[in-house]
This record gives sequence, structure tokens and C-alpha cells, in this order.
Amino acid sequence: MKILVTGGAGYIGSHTVVELQKQGHQVVIVDNLSNSSADVIDNIVKISGVAPVFEKFDLTDQALTADFFKRHSNIDGIIHFAAFKAVGESVANPLMYYRNNIQSLINILEGMKVNKIPYLVFSSSCTVYGQPDELPVKETSPIKEAFSPYGFTKQVSEAIIRDSVVAYPGIKAIALRYFNPIGAHDSALIGELPLGVPNNLLPFITQTAIGIRQELNVFGSDYNTPDGTAVRDYIHVVDLAQAHVIAVDRMISRKSKAPMEVFNLGTGNGLTVLEVINSFERVSGVKLNYRLVERRPGDVEKVWADTAYANEELGWKAKKAVDEMTLSAWKWELALADRKK
Ligand code: NAD
Ligand code: WQD
Repeated sequence: MKILVTGGAGYIGSHTVVELQKQGHQVVIVDNLSNSSADVIDNIVKISGVAPVFEKFDLTDQALTADFFKRHSNIDGIIHFAAFKAVGESVANPLMYYRNNIQSLINILEGMKVNKIPYLVFSSSCTVYGQPDELPVKETSPIKEAFSPYGFTKQVSEAIIRDSVVAYPGIKAIALRYFNPIGAHDSALIGELPLGVPNNLLPFITQTAIGIRQELNVFGSDYNTPDGTAVRDYIHVVDLAQAHVIAVDRMISRKSKAPMEVFNLGTGNGLTVLEVINSFERVSGVKLNYRLVERRPGDVEKVWADTAYANEELGWKAKKAVDEMTLSAWKWELALADRKK
């Protein structure tokens, strides 16, 4: 099948392209490289031996997006990753986030409607749950008021898709709510490429270990958790990528049970920040320089996924344990350093 992957040069998108190609799908990537680089496309080819079609343009541009769909009207399905994702930046510049994340989705849905493209997989986030009242959090748990404009774009996007599948019955969708994706491809040819100072835990850990950063701040040690640090459900990016292929195949083979379905993608296990650090130290042999500091404003105390619905309905389960996640992230950081030499 011919699958459009928007944001396919990005972190999760690139891993998904590789998994799609492995399953024999033909991939078209659209990415404006606002948070990625063209080298990623070359590295995808090195891994899979297959070159995806790549078009560089901004999906918020309605005319360019419409023109793209005219030229590729035989696309069978779309996986829409393209979005901005930095929570803090979205607080500082909300209009930039609303424009990029919402306008691009609208242009995609219009393209689907006009060109009769039936299937959409959308990148949503566990951020839509805020701090859930009950853990593990289920897909049916209430959506809480968003903590950030970024989080709100995911809630609004899900609502836009829900309205669209009702109004345009030719469109079916699956929204995947990712928990905390970490790690990199085994080849260490693709991985996460944070611009500037990383916000997320794993890139900060690996950059500290390799000497780019002096010290990791562990935000909060007085949470109501086993060791006082916050708990998240970290999931290996390759496990996550594989779930996208299954979601596309589910729609193509008409196994969906509703015009729009929602699945949590996590491991179902919560880990504290210190547990992740311990894993990193164990697999890398590097003693990490870190200190416990104040809580980071806006952080939830703990969240992890109930994955039963995804496990049963998608027949998918995250396979990789934390040591594989931290080791692959470390190998990726080492490979990046090697390439810079
Ligand atoms: P990423 O920044 O690595 O990838 C996004 C890609 O989209 C980038 O290559 C960027 O250049 C491209 N892009 C952004 N805006 C675009 C536009 N207007 N037109 C064309 N291309 C555009 O991010 P990622 O971590 O791979 O995240 C992918 C998706 O998953 C995003 O929607 C993000 O919100 C969501 N998500 C990410 C996480 C996470 O922790 N990484 C967690 C939950 C959800
Ligand atoms: C994880 C834990 C931090 C950095 C974010 C988004 C969420 C989703 C995933 C997109 C927290 C702690 C972190 C550091 C630390 N993205 N930490 N020192 O905040 O769970 O989720 O990414 O949808 O929407 O909010 O991820 O990696 O930033 O933090 O102690 O330098 O690590 O406090 O407990 P988070 P994260």
C-alpha cells in the first residue's frame, strides 16, 4: 500500500517509515525539516535499502498541500506525525503551535476528503489525560483541562478528527496516544535529534553522560512515588513505530470497530526518574552527574498506561524493556558524536 508519512524525517516518523518499508509498504514522506534533517532520509535508505519518496514543504500551506494530494491521489493511508511538540515553547508561543499543529491537520483532512483517501493514523499523546484520577489510565478515562497549548492542540486535533469521521463517512481514523517514547533504532542510524538544550529526560541523560551538558537536574524528589521522583511510562520508539503499521493495516483490512478509534501506546509499567537513571548507568557503565532539584512546573506526578485495549484489539504489545531503551539511546548518542568527529 502507498502510505503518506507526514513528519517522516522526525524522531518517531523515521522509525515508522523503516517499519512500514519492512512490511512492504511504499512510503511517501512530507516534511519541511523544521525539526529534522535530510540526512535522516539517507539513513532510512541505509537501513531499509529502499528510498522513500520525499517532498519538502510546509503542511500548513493549503495550496501546496492541495497540490501534493492532486499529484498523489492514489495514497491509501496517512500517518500524520508532523507537528511541533515542545511543551514549554508552546506556552511561550501558543499561536505558532495552534497554527502549525491545527492548520496542518485541517489541510490533511481536506486532502483526504477531496481525494477520497480513507485512512488516517494520528499522533496523539498521554498529555490529553493530565494527571489522571485513576492509574493505569484507560482510553475511556476523562480528558482533563490541558496543561499547555501543545497539549490543547492534541485535544482539539482529536476533536477535529472525531467530527470529520462523522461528517465525511469516507474517512476512518485511529488516534494513538503515546506515553513517553525513548530510545533509538538498533543500527544507531536514526534516533532523537533535539535542537538546543533538550527538554526530555533521555536526551538530557545521554548528553550529560557524553559531556555536552554538565549535570542533569532531576525535577522533584518529594512526589508520592516509591523513591520520590516522578513516574512515567517509557516506551521504546521501535515498539511504538510497529504499532503504527498495525493501525494502518487494521483500517485497510476493515477491522476497525468504529469510524474513529483511540489506543494508548505504552508498556503499562511506570518507572521513576531514578529508575531510568539507574538503568542508564547499568547499561552504559557511565556514572551520571545528577542532582535532585525542585519540581518542574506543569509536571504531573505519575502516569502510566492501561494497555489492555491496544494489546487485545491491535494484537500489539511493547516488547522492549528499559535497559534496551536506555542502551539504544546511548549507542545513538555515541554514534552522533562519532559522526561529528
Ligand atoms: P519530531 O519533531 O522529531 O518530528 C516531527 C516532524 O514533523 C519533524 O521532522 C518536523 O520537521 C516535521 N514538521 C513539523 N511541522 C511541520 C509542518 N508544518 N509541515 C511539514 N513538516 C512538519 O517529533 P516526534 O517526536 O517524532 O513526534 C511526532 C509526533 O508525535 C508529533 O505529532 C508529536 O506531537 C507526537 N508525540 C510525540 C511525543 C514525544 O515525546 N516525542 C509524545 C507524544 C506525542
Ligand atoms: C520525563 C520525566 C521530568 C528532564 C513530555 C510531554 C508529553 C509527551 C512526552 C508529547 C519527568 C523528568 C526531565 C530533565 C528530569 N510529549 N525530567 N530532568 O514531561 O513526561 O512528557 O514528553 O506529547 O506531552 O509533556 O517527558 O521527558 O520531559 O520528562 O528530571 O532534565 O523526567 O520531570 O518526570 P514528560 P520528559
